[in-house]
Amino acid sequence: MTVPTEGVVVQDLKKYFLDRKRGLVKAVDGVSFEARPGEIFALLGPNGAGKTTCLRVIATVLKPTAGQVFVQGWNVTQHPDQVRRVLGFHPGDAGVYHRLTPYEMVTVFAELAGHDRREAQKKAWEIFDQLGLTEVAKTPMGKLSTGQRQKSAIARIMVVDPPVWVLDEPALGLDVPTTQEVEQAILDAKQRGRTVILSTHTMEQAEYLADRIAVMDRGTIQAMGTMEDLRRSTHKTRLREIFLSLIKLEAPAP
Ligand SMILES: Nc1ncnc2c1ncn2[C@@H]1O[C@H](COP(=O)(O)OP(=O)(O)OP(=O)(O)O)[C@@H](O)[C@H]1O
Ligand SMILES: [Mg+2]
Repeated sequence: MTVPTEGVVVQDLKKYFLDRKRGLVKAVDGVSFEARPGEIFALLGPNGAGKTTCLRVIATVLKPTAGQVFVQGWNVTQHPDQVRRVLGFHPGDAGVYHRLTPYEMVTVFAELAGHDRREAQKKAWEIFDQLGLTEVAKTPMGKLSTGQRQKSAIARIMVVDPPVWVLDEPALGLDVPTTQEVEQAILDAKQRGRTVILSTHTMEQAEYLADRIAVMDRGTIQAMGTMEDLRRSTHKTRLREIFLSLIKLEAPAP
């Protein structure tokens, strides 16, 4: 098969963990999908469904157990460095450096990505202004609120503006105005032809942002498509109903 040189291709991805207490955990167990340039692809699923694990493999943080993943045509196992150059990853827990200020982190990321220093600084202040971070831009991140740290983590992707954006719960802990700003930034990225893959627990966000949605449960994709596709296949209207009809609720304890 010829692999597209743009976007993300995930083929029969499996990621198993050997856990001391739980034994073999099949976190991702045969997941396939594609996300194309100019598309926002959302992973939805209950806690433990395997969303973060999937995103971590795409972002080269974890190696796949089996299957293949390509980012802009690069195989994540064979060419992780090339993948990192074309991909921005927002880990759910913000993953920021507590001693750095948002300004330092964002400009360093931009410079590492090859942006001119002056240009990076200018862009950083524009983004801080857009996200309401100007006032705290020079405060170490260890002293910021959860939402401010989360915003700083998004800002470092916005400043680099890579072809592929991988965002694990980008609106987690954000207030309503900031959620709106972050969602607008994601929609702008799509308009510029970026490939965006995100996970979310917010039905509203998935409906608002995503061109296509995959509902994951227990390491596998239960259904995937546009809202229309999902409505047709489940005979439900609202995403919440569609979602609930697709996941298996845990049996009550005996
Ligand atoms: N390093 C690890 N070792 C063992 N098990 C792991 C490890 N990382 C993840 N898992 C397990 O893999 C499964 C999937 O986890 P994952 O974090 O991908 O879920 P998720 O869909 O992102 O959930 P959430 O909505 O809670 O963020 C869970 O059962 C989790 O306990
Ligand atoms: Mg997760």
